[in-house]
Parts: sequence; structure tokens; C-alpha cells
Amino acid sequence: MAAFDLIIKGGVVSTASDTFKSDIGVKDGRIVALGESLDGGAQEIDARDKHVLPGGIESHCHIEQESATGAMTSDDYYTGSVSAAFGGNTTIIPFAAQHRGERIPDVLRTYHDRAAPKSVLDYSYHLIVTEPTEAALNEDLPRAFEEGITSFKVFMTYDKMIVSDEMFLDILVAAREHGALTMVHAENNAMIKWMVKRLIAKGHTSARYHAISHPEASEVEAIGRAAHLAGFVDAPLLIVHVSTDAGARIVANARLEGQKLFGETCPQYFFLTRGDLDRPGAEGAKFCCSPPLRDEATQQALWRHLQAGTFQLFSSDHAPYRFDESGKLSAGPNPPFNRMANGMPGIELRAPLLFSEGVNKGRITLNQFVALTATNAAKMFGLHPKKGTIAIGADADLAIWDPGLEREVTAASMHDNMDYTPFEGMQLTGWPVTVISRGEVIIEGGELKAERGRGRFLKRAPFAVVGYEAGPAPELDSARNFGATLL
Ligand code: URP
Ligand code: ZN
Ligand code: ZN
Repeated sequence: MAAFDLIIKGGVVSTASDTFKSDIGVKDGRIVALGESLDGGAQEIDARDKHVLPGGIESHCHIEQESATGAMTSDDYYTGSVSAAFGGNTTIIPFAAQHRGERIPDVLRTYHDRAAPKSVLDYSYHLIVTEPTEAALNEDLPRAFEEGITSFKVFMTYDKMIVSDEMFLDILVAAREHGALTMVHAENNAMIKWMVKRLIAKGHTSARYHAISHPEASEVEAIGRAAHLAGFVDAPLLIVHVSTDAGARIVANARLEGQKLFGETCPQYFFLTRGDLDRPGAEGAKFCCSPPLRDEATQQALWRHLQAGTFQLFSSDHAPYRFDESGKLSAGPNPPFNRMANGMPGIELRAPLLFSEGVNKGRITLNQFVALTATNAAKMFGLHPKKGTIAIGADADLAIWDPGLEREVTAASMHDNMDYTPFEGMQLTGWPVTVISRGEVIIEGGELKAERGRGRFLKRAPFAVVGYEAGPAPELDSARNFGATLL
């Protein structure tokens, strides 16, 4: 009998901390050996001149999810996970969205039914909470945490999703108590609505006004408020899709102060600008996302934040709505900006974009790339060290990258269920060529080898970070922000 089911030979292995030349021996879906000249594999892959990296963990993507406007994403768990796999990912954590009036156990059942028969990758969900009732806080959320769903998202904007600051505090405390991580979409709802009303009244309806109606100040105010709320109850908080320098500085400063505040950013804020919203006709709708695209100066600032460690995560925020009546144009062929579905696709490109423009252009190291696309997500979302690294005992979730492979981005070459990519025409160098999930080769030679539904639900561990213990929020007089007893 062969010593290993699979050996990956001769590659340069990188983790979030180290880069070294090593073979990788895989048995029963896990990494069991790292060493020079391993022998005895039932299957062997030649990885000479290639990088062998942990499979990416895409922890911000919207798959088979109804949006705030009711539109359904174009990708289901099959096309979404296949597209993610072609982009070098081996785990996805999309959202399970509670819409008002829905009980959380029903929401989770719906998403299990959607994901289990289709996903080719291992998966979990973050729960979007829109109605933190007593039953939700005291029964449903604790049950979800027990089932291994240890993170969730709240919205500070969108009339149909928004929670008040008081509700936000309730959720932060419930999460703290059960060892979960709260994520927040931080934009000031009132500022946006105030702008939208005035712009539409003046007849300013084209896509470019989407960015104007979501000013930087709206994000900055909301990130600041969210940071204060989380600090007040000493709860960890992840600010997702940060798009501004000033917003990122709030995250960086809070971290300097010792707060458990984390930041995520996305490729669209690095490679596109609000100028893209000016494309002719309704084309600008393709570039409509929230927070909106910004300017070149912001792109440079965000690179600096990425280099300096402000952001722990670089996620796609894949929110695919086709450029037709099922998605972007559901309100007609030339919809006003406030009726265009928000979001854009990118699950297949987030890692190649960062590899090409970040690693290959010398902006970040390969180890930073691994941390931003895999290891940090595994740590923050309770999957490490099973996922997100290359180590003895870890799942053999690997992506083999050809660092010199050049390809042009086209919508036709993507594997999602979309009819456009906002990154069309970009020339990228460095692509994943072989993807392995739990020891099984799922992408090779440009072809999918995975069976529909092979992905497994991942029961995640509670959120953990040095210097923080889950449990009731601290007595008010024992924490730096407080002066009386909280609970
Ligand atoms: O515009 C975006 N980002 N749509 C997806 C939903 C969200 O808020 O992340
Ligand atoms: Zn969001
Ligand atoms: Zn999102």
C-alpha cells in the first residue's frame, strides 16, 4: 500500500509566516508529511517552479442570497463554489440572511438546503441578523453558535436590513457572551437617504450619483460609531468592506488602543474607481456597490493600509447580479441609481488580482498574501489550524500557483453565472493552476474535477484572540469605558 494518497513534489511552499522548498505528503485528506524527497504516493503532482499555498478562504461572498431589494444573486452554491475554486479557494463562508419576519432556525435550514447538495467546496455561513428580538437573542443565536455558526453580520444602513444602535449593542453583547464575532456594514443610513432624496429630486439619476449619495463621511461616521459601540461593551468587531482612508485609520487607531477591532477590504476599492460609474448608458450599474468605488488617492492609501497591517482580510464581497432584468436592470433598462442592485462579482479574481498586483509587483510579500486570503480568515472564523495553513494535521486544502502565467481577464473565462466582470481586460500575472480540497484534486488543467455537493458544512470554533475571553460583557466599573454596572 502506498505511504501517501498524494505527494505534491518540488514546490515552494508558503504559509503566512514561512516560505520553504518542500514536498507535501497527503493521506486521508490531511497533510501528514512535509519534507525533502518524499516517496510512495499513489498519485504525484509535479509542482516544480510553482508556489504551493493554502487554499484561499473566501469569507465575504453572497451566494444564493436574496438582497435587500429582493433580487436573487445569479450564483447558487454550485456556480459560486466552482467559481471560487477556479480562483484558488477551498473554503467559502457566504451569508445566510435573515429578512424581517423570518426566524433564524428557518433561515439556516433554507441555507443548508441550498448549500449541501451543490457546494463543491467546504462551507459555513455568517448569519445576517436583522431582527434581534428576545427570542433571537436568547434562543436562536445561542443555538446557531452551538451549531458552529460563530460569526454574523449587521447592517447600519439599508431600510430593510438596518439595526438601531441599541439593537447593535444587544447583538454585540450576545456575540461576546457566546464567543462569536460580529461583522458590520458601516454606512450612515440617514446621510445616504438624505443625499438620495435630493439627488433624485434634481433629476440626477445616473449611476455616477450612487457614489455621490454614499459620501466618504457616511462610512467614516458609521465606522467610528461602530467602533465606539463595540468598545463600550468590549466586544470584538470586524468592519467589512472598508473603502476609505479615514475609515481604515479608525480601525488602525482602535487597534493601537488595544481594541479588538478588525478590518476587511476588497479588490474593487483597489482596481476600480468611481469614474467607472460614468460608463455610457446603464453600464455604470455594473460598478454599483456599497460602499461605493472611490478615487485613485484612496487606492494608494488602501495599499498602504494593506502593507501596514490595518486590514486582516482581503475579500471579494462577491455579490453577483447579472446585467439584465434578473439583476442590475430589474427596475427597467435605465434604472435610477437608487434602484440598481448593489454589488459586483469577483470571487474568482480576488486572489489572482492580489497575487498579480500585490505579490508580483512587490507591494506585499507572499506571506502577507497567504495571511490576507487564507490564514487570517481561518483564525478569525474558527477554522484554524484545520483550514488556512500548510501544517501536519491540517486538511490538505491547497492551491498550486504558476507565478509567471499571464492571462487576460474576460467574463467568458470566468466560471460564475455572470454576464460581465468589472475587471474585464486586466492583464494578470500569476494564477492558480491546480486546486486540492481535502486531498482531492478539484481543479486541474483548466478543468473542474469536483462532484457537485462534495463540500462539507464546517462547524466553526468560537472566536478567539490573544487577550480576549468570551463571556458576559465586563462590569462597567472594571472596563475602561464604563462607570456603572452593565449586566
Ligand atoms: O454592494 C454590496 N456590497 N453588496 C453586497 C451586500 C453587502 O452589503 O455586502
Ligand atoms: Zn455590506
Ligand atoms: Zn457583502
